[in-house]
Amino acid sequence: DNIDVLVFGSSNIDYITYVNELPKPGETVLAMHRERCFGGKGANQCVAASKLGANCALITKLGTDALGEDYLEYLKTLEINLDFVERVESMPTGLAEIIVSDNAENTIIVLPGANSMLRPKDVSRCKKLFKNAKVLMCQLETEQKAVLFALQQFKGISILNASPMPKNINVELITTPTILCINEMEAAQLTEREQVNTLQDAKAAANEIIDKGAKSVIITMGALGAVFLSSTERDVCIHCPAAPVRFLADTSGAGDAFLGSLAYHIAIFPNLHRESHISAANICAAYAVGHRGTQLSFPGPEYAQNDLCRFVPTCTV
Ligand code: RIB
Ligand code: NA
Repeated sequence: DNIDVLVFGSSNIDYITYVNELPKPGETVLAMHRERCFGGKGANQCVAASKLGANCALITKLGTDALGEDYLEYLKTLEINLDFVERVESMPTGLAEIIVSDNAENTIIVLPGANSMLRPKDVSRCKKLFKNAKVLMCQLETEQKAVLFALQQFKGISILNASPMPKNINVELITTPTILCINEMEAAQLTEREQVNTLQDAKAAANEIIDKGAKSVIITMGALGAVFLSSTERDVCIHCPAAPVRFLADTSGAGDAFLGSLAYHIAIFPNLHRESHISAANICAAYAVGHRGTQLSFPGPEYAQNDLCRFVPTCTV
């Protein structure tokens, strides 16, 4: 009953194809090889938090197809509360086509399938989980309406990873979560900027997002780490530098490793500063970038930072 991290979100079967360079529009390229993995931002973030040692529950939908069967059997091997993982007959299990290049860049196409059946009533069904969990985490591979309802019902710390960023995002999805977490590209989309490449860009975008009514925002910046701004301390935009990456293998799933770790550290160390939580998340993201695959690339409990206080205060932008 003691849930640290509750995830309301998607599960996909990932087909990851490894190529030298990502194909340009109209171009044909030959791949090196292809792998099938368990993915989906919801399940990924849940598994990331669970691997670190959090008590997690996952609310998600799978198809009644063979892929859904495989996914459920796999989930059962993990220590995650699956009471509200539902199989639906009307839709196939979600799929993701991921292409990863030699320099570890990736592109992703998601076919939501069963994930689109996650509804507000799935929040109402899980009242107990919503009441008892410390941290709620959602993404946008499921219906905006259902995600918003989940965020509204939850009274603890909520995190929305607004990915993928919809063209017309409901503004309440920005104003409701405790933390809105997006990457540099999603930040550009949300603020209608050409790009968010520098810390200065990120600071300006973060300010604009707080202007839109966000309580706090984290913008992940790849090799630059992450930028954090809170509505309660608008004059301090914090930069948490990335952790070192020894070998760049595969950035897919790195964002989810960051989010899972963020949720874990917030749930376990609620009294520490947000920048400590973010620095701990950066360490897990760096680990995931150094390993292939999505969930396969997430670190275990030895990457849970049990001494977050030792993180030196990060700098301001
Ligand atoms: O963030 C990575 C994930 O995005 C993949 O696992 C894929 O399923 C898509 O949801
Ligand atoms: Na990875």
